Amino acid sequence: MNIAVYPGSFDPTTNGHLDVIERAAKIVDKLIVGVLINPKKNGLFTIEERVAQLEELTQNLPNVEVRSFSGLLVDFVRSVDARIVIRGLRAVTDFEYEFQMALTNRSLAEEIETLFIPTSAHYMYVSSSMVKEVASFGKSVEGMVPETVQKQMNDKFKNS
Ligand code: PNS
Repeated sequence: MNIAVYPGSFDPTTNGHLDVIERAAKIVDKLIVGVLINPKKNGLFTIEERVAQLEELTQNLPNVEVRSFSGLLVDFVRSVDARIVIRGLRAVTDFEYEFQMALTNRSLAEEIETLFIPTSAHYMYVSSSMVKEVASFGKSVEGMVPETVQKQMNDKFKNS
């Protein structure tokens, strides 16, 4: 069985993330979306909120599971018996960081392969940080994030 992990911060989940999840889920038997618990970074959403968001958004995909993890990605990948790490690639600007991460992970665990999925053209410019910035000024991020995420972000910024 081909098990893959799609790791990230998902703060919040964008339509670009969902595009990668849907496409990856078609080529592996099981896809585990891994939400990084990063004590050094305070996000807009808590880890529990991000996991709940992803669970709701992927409920139509039976071979997708959502989990949080802390520590090294390769240790998490091994703990779930996966051999593949999925990452989305948007523009060339992503490449250096992604390549560095893939090589680091490979040097830590050579049995784990990183597979890159090119983001669909209309999500090329969508990132969680841009989306948060735009939403923090009260502007719509329609089309960039699912509707539920847009609502949850609006609530966060209204209350902050
Ligand atoms: O969505 P992001 O923030 O680009 O995802 C980055 C992530 C979570 C994939 C990366 O930071 C990660 O794997 N962190 C876990 C720590 C680790 O394994 N570091 C070594 C490889 S860079």
